[in-house]
Amino acid sequence: MNKIEVCLSPALIDLYSLKGKIVVIVDILRATSSMVTGFAHSVEKIIPVTAVDKCLQLKAEGCIAAGERNGQIVEGMDMGNSPFSYMAETLKGKTVAMTTTNGTLAIEKAREATQILIGAFLNIQHLADHLKQSKQDILIFCAGWKGRVNMEDSLFAGNLIQLLTATHSIEDDSAHLALSMYQQAQGDIATYLAPCAHAQRLAKMNIQKDIDFCFQKDKYQVIPHFKEGKLVNL
Ligand code: MLT
Repeated sequence: MNKIEVCLSPALIDLYSLKGKIVVIVDILRATSSMVTGFAHSVEKIIPVTAVDKCLQLKAEGCIAAGERNGQIVEGMDMGNSPFSYMAETLKGKTVAMTTTNGTLAIEKAREATQILIGAFLNIQHLADHLKQSKQDILIFCAGWKGRVNMEDSLFAGNLIQLLTATHSIEDDSAHLALSMYQQAQGDIATYLAPCAHAQRLAKMNIQKDIDFCFQKDKYQVIPHFKEGKLVNL
């Protein structure tokens, strides 16, 4: 059996070895949900960057600029981080430069990994089917919120672990925690996640529809893959 473990926050990532592993980056609200949605709507490439200035520089070079901080669009950007923005016809075949509060930072911190894949509830079954035949150890890397653990990314980790029990054995207590969370919530993740901090934050900004959308399962059969500084569909 291969092994699976979970890093619950970017603040802990230095405790994990990434070499020889597939790292699945998850930021349910909303970065990885938006990335998956973009590729499902024929975005060509996404360049994740950690700095607003870099994102604006890429805009000047012809990219669509998508920038979010604290859940809101950054001044000067073409769009924020709503998955609904990633459905636009105008993005078909285009390259999006993307910077977000947590999700793009997690990708930067995972660069040592043998392979970086993007996970969300929206593509979780398709991703699990791919991982089952990978014969590789996996680290699920939760983007969290500014270094803190969050519920939605941890619940995704538990859900993915449950889907991989036939091929991957749990390697650490974070994974056991994530799995038991999911087993508790399995019937209804939206209800279980209703109190989560970022859903509350986004709801106060009247973007409840993003939350409802990001909690849907198995909507898209795409797997964004980070290669040579860009995300492309695997
Ligand atoms: C994040 O990076 O944590 C999210 O993208 C924040 C958001 O979209 O609200």
